[in-house]
Amino acid sequence: MNDLIPIVNKLQDVFNTIGSDTVDLPQIIVVGSQSSGKSSVLENIVQRDFLPRGNGIVTRRPLVLQLVNVHDSEDEKAEEFGEFLHAANRKFVDFSEIRREIENETARVAGQNKGISRSPIHLKIYSPNVLNLTLVDLPGLTKIPVGDQPTDIEKQTRSLILDYITKPNSIILAVSPANVDLVNSESLKLAKQVDPEGKRTIGVLTKLDLMDAGTNALEILTGRVLPLKLGFIGVVNRSQQDIVGNKPMSEALKAETDFFRHHLAYRSIASRCGTPFLAKTLNNILMNHIRERLPDMKARINSLISQTQQELLSYGDPTLDGKSSRGALILRLLTKFSNDFISSIDGTMIDI
Ligand code: GDP
Ligand code: NA
Ligand code: MG
Repeated sequence: MNDLIPIVNKLQDVFNTIGSDTVDLPQIIVVGSQSSGKSSVLENIVQRDFLPRGNGIVTRRPLVLQLVNVHDSEDEKAEEFGEFLHAANRKFVDFSEIRREIENETARVAGQNKGISRSPIHLKIYSPNVLNLTLVDLPGLTKIPVGDQPTDIEKQTRSLILDYITKPNSIILAVSPANVDLVNSESLKLAKQVDPEGKRTIGVLTKLDLMDAGTNALEILTGRVLPLKLGFIGVVNRSQQDIVGNKPMSEALKAETDFFRHHLAYRSIASRCGTPFLAKTLNNILMNHIRERLPDMKARINSLISQTQQELLSYGDPTLDGKSSRGALILRLLTKFSNDFISSIDGTMIDI
């Protein structure tokens, strides 16, 4: 079953190449108010520093992040690197270069100031330390315009987020900071609009280390405050001070594990808290989700193939014009994909 995710990632590439989003692919969408810790959660999942993050509005374009697990071979350690769709022939081995590239690409399209853009940045990260996942980082919700933001910035951001989370194939990673009352959580309010039964929303509680002394979030984490089918997972990300002091990722993860293990309120649920558990849960959710959507995805691919075939027929001689050679290319990609897809499904227990 795990083999399905690379196939779905490949499908996504095909559709990016041909500029079509006819197939709604399962993706995990990170939603939350500004500075709730969205980018920090993503960095922890990847176990690398590569995202612009900090106080204020930092994420200003959607970032579609495909994590690709690569294995070490017998005589060679797997290389860890990033690749952008907009700079496809450049391999980024230095992760601070990835951050710089995101910043530059953000400024190029969304301006130097605080504006946001709906146009996504596509980034792939190949690493032996990641599980296969596709995640989308989105600009955070803000109430008050700053810099050269338009007065309707809240409305713009809301509609951008809704575009992503309305798709029935999306899984909503609703980030809420633990030091703000959950009833005021913007992410959970938005998630509820499109997923009222809480079937495809997973709650992530950040900043557990910043809660008032004497309070804790045990009731929330055990699902007694707000029931979500996929549950709530607590995490502790690096603080601004940790970021400024360049606290290494490995140390941050260890500190997080220790936090849960030694905390009086959380130690009994420590194995179900923290970033590694979150990453594992997300991978499981994604696989179950793909399994549920397989019949529908297969039907859509097949109808796209026959549609393209028909278009090709109507062009006549395939060697004559550019339009039909593009069509032929698309058809080749789709057919190849479809074959891969079916053989991968055949290797599983799924009946479609
Ligand atoms: P985003 O705007 O939602 O993407 O939030 P960021 O990931 O950029 O984080 C905003 C700020 O909150 C940064 O200064 C982070 O260091 C800090 N932060 C995020 N998560 C935590 C956490 O769990 N604990 C602490 N102490 N600080 C956090
Ligand atoms: Na931020
Ligand atoms: Mg961010």
